[in-house]
Amino acid sequence: TTMEGSAAHREQPAADSVFVRACRGLPVPYTPVWFMRQAGRSLPEYRKVRAGIAMLEACRRPDLVAEITLQPVRRHGVDAAILFSDIVVPVAAAGIDLDIEPGTGPVVAEPVRTEADLARLRPLTPPDVSYVDEAVRLLAGELGGTPLIGFAGAPFTLASYLVEGGPSRTHAKTKAMMYGQPELWHALCARLAGITLEFLRVQVAAGVSAVQLFDSWAGTLSEADYRRFVLPHSAHVLGGLSGAGVPRIHFGVGTAQLLTAMGEAGADVVGVDWRTPLDAAAALVDGPSGRGPHGSGRPVQGNLDPCVLFAPWPVVEREVRRVLAEGRAAPGHVFNLGHGVLPETDPEVLTRVVALVHEASAR
Ligand code: CP3
Repeated sequence: TTMEGSAAHREQPAADSVFVRACRGLPVPYTPVWFMRQAGRSLPEYRKVRAGIAMLEACRRPDLVAEITLQPVRRHGVDAAILFSDIVVPVAAAGIDLDIEPGTGPVVAEPVRTEADLARLRPLTPPDVSYVDEAVRLLAGELGGTPLIGFAGAPFTLASYLVEGGPSRTHAKTKAMMYGQPELWHALCARLAGITLEFLRVQVAAGVSAVQLFDSWAGTLSEADYRRFVLPHSAHVLGGLSGAGVPRIHFGVGTAQLLTAMGEAGADVVGVDWRTPLDAAAALVDGPSGRGPHGSGRPVQGNLDPCVLFAPWPVVEREVRRVLAEGRAAPGHVFNLGHGVLPETDPEVLTRVVALVHEASAR
């Protein structure tokens, strides 16, 4: 059950892996690929080890976290592992009573809507998430040359769950606080930014090779509101990791109008959903110098529509090749889906996509 014999283990260290090099815009022998939600219900071996164990409990058991994280690496040969956890793990560890309900997502017992509510959300200290430290150390040892991606939720997306009390289509209560009580909004996001930064620092110290900041639901905002109410808090998180020595990926869904701003928030790699072609996305993201107009750009990650995986193979192949071609417009490309693997996905198609990406991009 270890990665001892794998090719990755004998190859270069994770910090100089094909995935990390692509994140830095360095030359690579082929385009690296991993999938958001690669560990999860699409895999029978996942359903088997999760049977009878609640999601949050599974996240707190380092042996189980390590096993689930390794499953898609063994099965698909992806170029990176992503830590099995959830964006609400650190807020639960910081004092918020919540659960992750199957088929629904995070549900918060008492939503955070007032200044008194905010007091229930404590700053996070490393001992609160010692099980994450332990899981990452275990995994860094087992994975050898395969990089491990750490992650956290960005302040807006976390705030949305806390304020709504659960998943929301309109984010109405979240926006009501943002527009109606801007001081409370900024206090909540500042608290969440501190928790997220601490959570990512724990993962970096324990040995992750990259981090991804998920602002999954930021696409519900206009660029002006994003810049005013969200960007400073996400920039605090990403800026706090600028000396950490690991690439930072910044991802959201439906963010075509936000790609320039999300790049400015401090990402090394901008994640893109399937709605925006990668060449168009690359043109929207400025270089790290911040000097426009859209000079050398930054590496991008994405962006095959997860639903394409339900199509006949020739269609999948055509779409994978299109994404690879469009990705060449950026100084680096990490192949991924435009959002997470859907539970109904045939895992054999994912394995074939990994092989195709490697073969079709080989240089
Ligand atoms: O493989 C990976 O990508 C790592 C694991 C991972 C999970 N959650 C495991 C999980 C990651 C990166 C996340 C992040 C996450 N969680 C996000 C950001 C990414 C995104 O999808 O935009 C968000 C918004 C959440 C909140 C959340 N947690 C949702 C929306 C759900 C799905 C609800 C459902 O059951 O459909 C969860 C639960 C969850 N997180 C599952 C997994 C594998 C499914 C629960 C289960 O298997 O019982």
